[in-house]
Amino acid sequence: MSPFQLTRTLPEHATEAALRADVLQGLTRGPKTLPPKWFYDARGSELFDEITALPEYYPTRAEREILLTRSPEIAAASGARTLIELGSGSSDKTRHLLDELTGLELYVPVDVSESALRGAAGALLAERPGLRVHALLADFTAALDLPATPGPRLVAFLGGTIGNLLPPERAVFLASVRALLAPGDALLLGTDLVKDESVLVRAYDDTAGVTAAFNKNVLSVINRELGADFDPADFGHVARWDREEEWIEMRLRARRALTVKIPELDLVVHFAAGEEVRTEVSAKFRQERVRTELGCAGMELRHWWTDGEGRFALSLATAV
Ligand code: AVJ
Repeated sequence: MSPFQLTRTLPEHATEAALRADVLQGLTRGPKTLPPKWFYDARGSELFDEITALPEYYPTRAEREILLTRSPEIAAASGARTLIELGSGSSDKTRHLLDELTGLELYVPVDVSESALRGAAGALLAERPGLRVHALLADFTAALDLPATPGPRLVAFLGGTIGNLLPPERAVFLASVRALLAPGDALLLGTDLVKDESVLVRAYDDTAGVTAAFNKNVLSVINRELGADFDPADFGHVARWDREEEWIEMRLRARRALTVKIPELDLVVHFAAGEEVRTEVSAKFRQERVRTELGCAGMELRHWWTDGEGRFALSLATAV
């Protein structure tokens, strides 16, 4: 039996239909919004990788530091035979954890990118003979249909991506994660933390302009996929800290009044000069909020680890 298996749970054309629905919804009612998941085509994923190397963008380095120093503790606390990673991407940071999980039999990376899944599995299988990889091509925000896996299981959701979900979406998501856990299983959750406003804003508005290009990339995605005629140069990049909600918002601001055609949707969209489209929310957390939201979803916070500067946290939670 091959140690690698890939299961496709994304229906053919599901992505295209979802993009059409999101763009139609998001641009035909005010205030305009576009969901952040559409940043990540090949170019957008490349730009995101560049972001993670920027001096201003600390979350990736902070989380890697925690994984480097705490993986032995995480591994000991979970004793996992199965690691399920939601939004696994290149599985790069997870490597430290995989190295420490000595009893691991099965790795289940879940991602919407087939190339990322295949690349990560190939590298891993070369290093870990005996490990099985069952990759799932799936959208982790939808209900997950997991194969039968040996317990105990560790479900990992890293990078602070949970912050891209709005509070009601987070509640639904955490409940669906809770449904994956049997007694003895655990969730490892990465969250960026509330900190000084200037540090946060710089992380989302770097001087090299990489985040601005990443933000505008969503317009290129809509141009390519739906035949639209957005000129990215017509929009400015905005990163703003909302102190009430405790989240960063990225927006695209129309530099002048303009009209954009989206032929595939039979749609013409008007923008007033200065009008903004919200393209991302990136929530920042305090321990209390993490504990409460986990609790509401039927999980209990057991461990809380941060980097040396207290910028980012990894939580380990179990089902109650
Ligand atoms: C990949 C969702 C964690 O919210 O910080 C980076 C995406 N957006 N710069 C984040 C992102 C702007 C990132 N996550």
